[in-house]
Amino acid sequence: MASSFRVCRMHMRGTGSLLKRIQIIDTCLQRRIVTNVVEPSNVLKNEENGEQEGWKAFDAIQLERQEQAERSVLISCHSKTNEKKFLKYLSIHGDIKNSFFYESYGTYAVVEFANQESIASLHEAVNLPVVSNESVVPFKSRLLSLRSLGAAVVPNSQTGPKCKPQATIPLTELIQRLSKEESIDHQVTSLMKAYQVTEENTRLRFLVCSLLKDIAAAYFPECNVRPFGSSVNGFGKLGCDLDMFLDLDGISGRNVAMPKAGLVLEYQMKRSNSERAVTQSILSVVGECVDRFGPGCVGVQKILNARCPLVRFSHQPSNFQCDLTANNRVAMKTSELLYLYGCLDGRVRGLVFAVRCWARVHSVTSSIPGAWISNFSLTVMVLFYLQRRATPLIPTLDHLRSLAGPADKSVIEGNDCTFVSDLSKIQPQDNTETLEQLLCGFFHFYSTFPFARKSINIRKGKEQTKPEVVPLHIQNPFEVSLNVSKNVNAAQLERFVALCQEGAWQLEQSATLTRGTGHAPSPWGLAALLVPAAGTPGIKGRKKRKREPASERIKSLLESLKNKI
Ligand code: GTP
Ligand code: MG
Repeated sequence: MASSFRVCRMHMRGTGSLLKRIQIIDTCLQRRIVTNVVEPSNVLKNEENGEQEGWKAFDAIQLERQEQAERSVLISCHSKTNEKKFLKYLSIHGDIKNSFFYESYGTYAVVEFANQESIASLHEAVNLPVVSNESVVPFKSRLLSLRSLGAAVVPNSQTGPKCKPQATIPLTELIQRLSKEESIDHQVTSLMKAYQVTEENTRLRFLVCSLLKDIAAAYFPECNVRPFGSSVNGFGKLGCDLDMFLDLDGISGRNVAMPKAGLVLEYQMKRSNSERAVTQSILSVVGECVDRFGPGCVGVQKILNARCPLVRFSHQPSNFQCDLTANNRVAMKTSELLYLYGCLDGRVRGLVFAVRCWARVHSVTSSIPGAWISNFSLTVMVLFYLQRRATPLIPTLDHLRSLAGPADKSVIEGNDCTFVSDLSKIQPQDNTETLEQLLCGFFHFYSTFPFARKSINIRKGKEQTKPEVVPLHIQNPFEVSLNVSKNVNAAQLERFVALCQEGAWQLEQSATLTRGTGHAPSPWGLAALLVPAAGTPGIKGRKKRKREPASERIKSLLESLKNKI
């Protein structure tokens, strides 16, 4: 198995001899080398010895995380709660496997019991809240509050529990941190350490899904609620939204073959004229339930006429912005594909992270829907660019499809979503570029990309003739007749291209700077790319960058491109 021979490849300055040795081993053994930019949070750890178990398939991770979440509770408690006594108090219901505290509209604890029975035992012991002048909806969930009455059972400590951060550090601090690094490769590693969804944040995301499942299960006891998108695809940043999928496919009897003859009993069910109408009515009812009975769920909006109907709300205890969809299996498959690409080589995650972060700072992307490029489209653009390197860093989707086994076969609503799920079946690529080269190359690539004529296509790994007149055409990987960036207008695309030109120019300037020296070095490399344009508030004490007029910068960039050619 290739994964058992995985070696960390460190494309970083100052690691020359180590890198050479690793590369020799790599060439000799023809085995996969993966850049260990930062250990991804969604790779489960071996809890006994604290070591990484290695790569796990997407579905296996989902199952384990869901099972973990079902044994967990979320408890609001006092900010000075004595952690040790708190856990001792809870342990009367069974062994506690894991726990952590965090702050969000108060202090919360996530407690994972070793066994499912502990949840039942806890439910037996939990009281209904006593409220005066109000009434409560008696819906029992795993979101609880710890109160101390009279002589406190759980005395508070002086300092309170140590809380795990669930939000990113401020941009100013990030820029300072990155400026001290000695290479762009180190800067990307540092960025990921600071911004990537953490182990605890992943647990919390699955727990919120599990709490939602308890609500939906009132109507559909066999349902499942699964996270998708950046919560699980390996490209998630702390604070990203929580995309959830209400999965009713697992309902027993759905795929049972009808006997050819004899008696058969079947359920009487309401019928609707389309799958979409069914999805809308299910989401409408579940959304109503979330609104009226869901503890901690506020600001519920039912957006049922969207292309993909959804229920949007804030989950206050976790501070997650949630989007609940149903019948969205293609998006789930897309998340798995992105996860697989991210696992193929650590540089994929590093580059996607750097580009997504840069794009957010310069408002190329936004959390508000509009005529701009979405994070998803941008991720596909990065993947396409990596397929288009002289030595491709990742294979095409068609190639991944050709490696698929019978168990990988997947057709969703007539769309072929088949691709290999076993990482060890994918031949490693020979690309040895550093993240610095790749980042610089990304900006060059899209500075000169023929957007007017060509479409971006990760299935083929080659630009295709644009099938329709739109500013930006990115073929949907699975629903191939769709353009994932059809919302993007010409002005936003032009802005993106101009910012790519500027990014390439900035990185070339950085190449001549002394890096990461002094007590407070000025932003360089990736840090310089993350400095918002002049006039954007928020960068305290930042020295104004001396800027040449844009035309000069573009001229110098074109010169350098010409020289390169
Ligand atoms: P952030 O939430 O911005 O961090 O990234 P995200 O990848 O989660 O994007 P978003 O929440 O917008 O969408 C969630 C997931 O839905 C994506 O990861 C894709 O799998 C899928 N998705 C989003 N937009 C499209 C689209 O236009 N077409 C298709 N097929 N899938 C999409
Ligand atoms: Mg998302």
